[in-house]
Amino acid sequence: MSKVYVFDHPLIQHKLTYIRDINTGTKEFRELVDEVATLMAFEITRDLPLEDKTIETPVTKMTSKILSGKKIGIVPILRAGIGMVEGVLKLIPAAKVGHIGLYRDPETLEPVEYYAKLPADVAEREFIVVDPMLATGGSAIEAINSLKKRGAVNIKFMCLIAAPEGVQALQDAHNDVDVYIAALDDKLDEHGYIVPGLGDAGDRLFGTK
Ligand code: PRP
Ligand code: URA
Repeated sequence: MSKVYVFDHPLIQHKLTYIRDINTGTKEFRELVDEVATLMAFEITRDLPLEDKTIETPVTKMTSKILSGKKIGIVPILRAGIGMVEGVLKLIPAAKVGHIGLYRDPETLEPVEYYAKLPADVAEREFIVVDPMLATGGSAIEAINSLKKRGAVNIKFMCLIAAPEGVQALQDAHNDVDVYIAALDDKLDEHGYIVPGLGDAGDRLFGTK
């Protein structure tokens, strides 16, 4: 079974409160999502492998650590996932960015794929799929299906807010994909919205309705 990590760092929880608040406008919402994505990227990269590098400080020679060239791919689920990309890139600037476009059919709540473009060396990369919301889990499951179909073998999923139903569905569908979330909320409502949640992440990020 995959693991679920809840990043309840005080800075993340503080920023998440303002992200949730209905009175937070588009500009501030976007900035806060970007900041939380950076903080989450710091946590999610804890297990990156290191290797030794011999350098010279102004005082002496020493052997120190550097990242051992792990190839990372960030994959936002369009469109709301885009809001988390820059925040992750601040810490992993050499990462490649793939895109998977999905929307939830408002009637069936089923995800519909309309776009996919990934780095060429899919099988050699560790992918972090990003999306602010994990509600029914349909979009995340489908995005990861899409990645695996194209050869990805090493995948993590990172979101701001998850419903228990979505976490369960994602774990059932992809038990090799660890899930990283900033807050685990109570439930879904009858429209598939997370309660208490933050509303429609895409609309709040991009100022649409
Ligand atoms: C939202 C969100 C997720 C999805 C989560 O996207 O960004 O991708 O819903 O719901 P699920 O877990 O039930 O699939 P939406 O479909 O509203 O598209 P958008 O990003 O274009 O607004
Ligand atoms: N997608 C969103 O943007 N918000 C939710 O609460 C559920 C799905």
